[in-house]
Amino acid sequence: MIQYQEQKFDLKGLNGISDAQLEVHFKLYAGYVTNTNTVNAQLAELEAGGKMGTPTWAELKRRAGWEYNGKILHEQYFGNLTRSPAALDDNSALGRKVAECFGSVDAWKKNMTSTATMRGIGWVICYQDPTNGHLTNHWITEHEMGHPAGFRPIVVLDMWEHAFMVDYKPAEKAKYVEAFFSNVDWKACEKRLG
Ligand SMILES: [Fe+2]
Repeated sequence: MIQYQEQKFDLKGLNGISDAQLEVHFKLYAGYVTNTNTVNAQLAELEAGGKMGTPTWAELKRRAGWEYNGKILHEQYFGNLTRSPAALDDNSALGRKVAECFGSVDAWKKNMTSTATMRGIGWVICYQDPTNGHLTNHWITEHEMGHPAGFRPIVVLDMWEHAFMVDYKPAEKAKYVEAFFSNVDWKACEKRLG
């Protein structure tokens, strides 16, 4: 059976996202790795015992998407942050694509920020449609509702309160989003483009 390992991210010293905040967040992410493995192990055990299709098995099946996405989305979020950020280059492949789809980098950021500061908890993801290369910003409720199936995640922003509550008040989402943008690893995001 596949066993997932917790990935490590060296992100000490970010702008506006403290090490204490990250420590809390890494622990929470580790829980999703553990639980993804646990759900898979419990499903396998039930299946080996002839209990496939039982209510217990079915609930674990439903749970799997939550645990998997809790793991994967955190890896994408931490993976698009860097301790040594540089501004998004307007002439880079990503800069040009963002401008093509939203009019300008500023217009795209405004759309991302407006989506991120909506009420509720979830994720904001700039996704690329693999069929035509177009970028669109999406609100993902909790971990699993709202993903356009098969799209490529380009920029992933965690908007659960646990992502910023050590550093910011619930009403200060916009400050956290600004801090996030000041730490984005645009090269890592650009590599995700198809
Ligand atoms: Fe999170």
